[in-house]
Amino acid sequence: MHTPGLLLYCRPGFEKECAAEVSTAMADFGADGYAKTKPDSGLVLFVPHDPEKARNPPIGWHDLAFARQMVRDARLVGDMPITDRATPLTKAAAELNLRFSEVWLETADTNEAKELSSFCRKFEPRLRETLTKHGMLTNDMTQTRLHVMFHSSAAAYVGFSAPADSAPWQMGIPRLRMPRTAASRSTLKLAEALLVFLTDAERAEWLHPGISAVDLGAAPGGWTWQLVRHGLHVYAIDNGDLDPALLANNQVEHLRADGLTWRPKRPVDWLVCDMVEKPSRIAALVADWLANGYCQRAIFNLKLPMKKRWEELQRCRILIDDKLCKHPYELRFKQLYHDREEVTGFLMSR
Ligand SMILES: C[S@@+](CC[C@H](N)C(=O)[O-])C[C@H]1O[C@@H](n2cnc3c(N)ncnc32)[C@H](O)[C@@H]1O
Repeated sequence: MHTPGLLLYCRPGFEKECAAEVSTAMADFGADGYAKTKPDSGLVLFVPHDPEKARNPPIGWHDLAFARQMVRDARLVGDMPITDRATPLTKAAAELNLRFSEVWLETADTNEAKELSSFCRKFEPRLRETLTKHGMLTNDMTQTRLHVMFHSSAAAYVGFSAPADSAPWQMGIPRLRMPRTAASRSTLKLAEALLVFLTDAERAEWLHPGISAVDLGAAPGGWTWQLVRHGLHVYAIDNGDLDPALLANNQVEHLRADGLTWRPKRPVDWLVCDMVEKPSRIAALVADWLANGYCQRAIFNLKLPMKKRWEELQRCRILIDDKLCKHPYELRFKQLYHDREEVTGFLMSR
């Protein structure tokens, strides 16, 4: 059997960043190991020297910006016979020594891998039947999820994730429908960020009428649209034009100003920022808003450079850390499915 590891799904093209990030994060906890990946595969396997750390890692999905999903104790099942894949997969699942509330058959987010998805759909009932026969499935939804990640029709990784610490979507991809009346596709970025960074309870508590927000770089208004949908009052800052439907909405005030220097007269609850600017400038800006009490929480997009993208993200983290050294805060990053050469950050006063 191949050595088990932590299997991470990422945006194809970002394997290097994902591998550097997980290796550093694990090493910070003394869990050294090595990362295996192939360019554009959308997958990274981190193999810790201590196999127990692949099962109970000191880090979680939320800690990793470039990982869409984190599957524990993942082992490669290769050379499966076409006539019977269920037997070797069930054997690998049994080695995990768990019962599963869900079984997800997945592929990487690449065109070649996607061709396997119709095979996965057809094969799923067969695998479920075998797992049921071996008493490995349970109706208790708090239990672990079994992941079977096919990377060819003859080879798959088998591992598990815990619902509390993993993406709740197959392939780590939330399937969001583009709202008909939203002004731009980037509306999906903020919709996804609110799902990734906040719990149901936090969304209910922090997004409702009476709450105020500033949207820096708001035009044409996809992010403002999301905030308005939740009932927030929004100051939309942009020299560009806002969608007329938003302008007509009395929850929205459009101000033509420079988002880098504009500050509200009174504090607001939320800052969101999607300005196309150098990442370090945006990081310094959101830290300044929080440090000076202009807002409590911020969601912001960092457009990454072509090279040294992970290093740039690290620089931004350090910059925020330095500016908020006297201010308790929480900071997380994720490269969302709807992000391209960018990552989205969530920063909150504690
Ligand atoms: C990617 S677009 C934002 C899209 C928007 N989030 C949406 O969902 O429709 C970036 C916007 O930032 C604005 N922008 C860039 N630099 C700015 C600045 N210094 N001050 C204000 N707006 C700025 C641009 O005018 C542009 O409309």
